[in-house]
Amino acid sequence: MADHILSMSNIYKNFAGVRALQGVAFDLYPGEVHALLGENGAGKSTLIKIITGVHQPDDGDIVLYGEPVKFDDPRASQRQGIAAIYQEPSLFPDLDIAENIFVGRQPTRAGGQVAWSQMYHAASELLNSLGVHLDPRTKARNLSVAQQQMVEIARALSVQAKILIMDEPTSSLTLAEVDDLFRIVNQLRDAGTAIVFISHRLEELFELADRVTVLRDGAYVDTKLISEVTTESLIQMMVGRQLSDLFPKLDVEAGDIVLQVECLSRDGAFQDVSFTLRQGEILGMAGLVGAGRTDVARAIFGVDAITGGRVIINGQPVTINSPQQAMRLGLAYVPEDRQHHGLVLPMHISHNITLPILSEFASQGWLDTGQEQQSATEAATQMEVKAAGLWQRVRELSGGNQQKVVLAKWLATKPRILILDEPTRGIDVGTKAAVHGLMSQLASQGMAILMISSELPEILGMSDRILVMREGRLTGQFSRTEATQEKIMLAATQAVEQV
Ligand SMILES: Nc1ncnc2c1ncn2[C@@H]1O[C@H](COP(=O)(O)OP(=O)(O)OP(=O)(O)O)[C@@H](O)[C@H]1O
Ligand SMILES: [Mg+2]
Repeated sequence: MADHILSMSNIYKNFAGVRALQGVAFDLYPGEVHALLGENGAGKSTLIKIITGVHQPDDGDIVLYGEPVKFDDPRASQRQGIAAIYQEPSLFPDLDIAENIFVGRQPTRAGGQVAWSQMYHAASELLNSLGVHLDPRTKARNLSVAQQQMVEIARALSVQAKILIMDEPTSSLTLAEVDDLFRIVNQLRDAGTAIVFISHRLEELFELADRVTVLRDGAYVDTKLISEVTTESLIQMMVGRQLSDLFPKLDVEAGDIVLQVECLSRDGAFQDVSFTLRQGEILGMAGLVGAGRTDVARAIFGVDAITGGRVIINGQPVTINSPQQAMRLGLAYVPEDRQHHGLVLPMHISHNITLPILSEFASQGWLDTGQEQQSATEAATQMEVKAAGLWQRVRELSGGNQQKVVLAKWLATKPRILILDEPTRGIDVGTKAAVHGLMSQLASQGMAILMISSELPEILGMSDRILVMREGRLTGQFSRTEATQEKIMLAATQAVEQV
């Protein structure tokens, strides 16, 4: 094999009492995809932020192209050919694609003005070389997550990055978009780029990675060739124990219809959506990202207004104009976008969890903080939130642990009807099994659950019945026994008979 392009050893990093990394080693060869694996909070993002100069290590050595280096800021690492795509896309929404690619280093003319036509031309060429068909004058705010990632990759290409780091790039992508991304990653690898790839989807590692390094609780576990490991051995390395059943669905006798949706429409978003949901039932909602599933959930929860149809709860037609009203009717909605809709990032974990139920603890203007703490502790424990304490700010949590706080927050409202939008996105395998176990348990206690998910194994494993949406319409409905991956994909991607 060729020489290392990057070699890190004995890396330590503390954040005010949190030991994020303790003696971690990591190395990279040119032309390899090296996966970084570990549970939520294991230290993956922290390690890559050290490579990119966002954080400085407390101790340890970094050798890049054979020379010891120390990065004081992200610019220093960029100058050395290191580019990163983070868990949340980081484009400037009001700039267009070309401006985002060349931000801070636009090509200029002799007089110093920006050479616009040259810039748009160069952006087009970069996008073409990736096989991406986008107009470089499109504003970033109008791009899907997948398209934003393509722009970030184009930016990495434009600086001729030798090391490209991707932190959970696939968690918000459709299957087709993942294929596109993998094609591009393979193309870059063949051209000699070294790629660091983080994902909680183990099957992706087997498809893409050459080697894998596993972290557990901030400590280095091992580095292996992908041909030397199996799903079981990786899980064992990550969690330190064996996981038996990833989808522990209990059989529950469905009860009365609690939620009925009739011909629900919202102009421009979805049309004629009808379904029922029973007590104790888990109803899966499959489809591609953008099929309108989140729009339906938001409308039922009173976030967006409907333009047609009606919602019936426990046999009573209801008008839901706000989330507060929805909550009074026993509904809860866990949104997919934790950063923007689910959490108040600068606030403590406990306040985030108890936010929707604060009125319960307030009597005559006094807040019963003891009660509040207890509720928050219960919910956080149930969700296995990993943090230094409930006083920690949500902003400081790892991505997966933020997601767990969102789930804990809605569980604390003890809803009768729970709508979950991509409940396990960004959650590690061990916790995922715990979340699935919890869903199953809640259903057996009579909770009705509508679960939107883009992950087919999750849909197939957890649902009693499955709805499929495509372009704002229901295009398929299957029972647990008749559903297959193929049938769902067909309904999600092609116009098939209306149900
Ligand atoms: N800025 C910060 N301040 C305080 N603690 C932090 C900060 N950044 C990370 N941590 C802590 O460091 C630990 C490692 O977090 P990190 O984000 O590296 O995990 P991760 O492996 O990327 O997890 P995930 O899979 O959930 O994204 C966590 O306990 C996290 O709370
Ligand atoms: Mg992370």
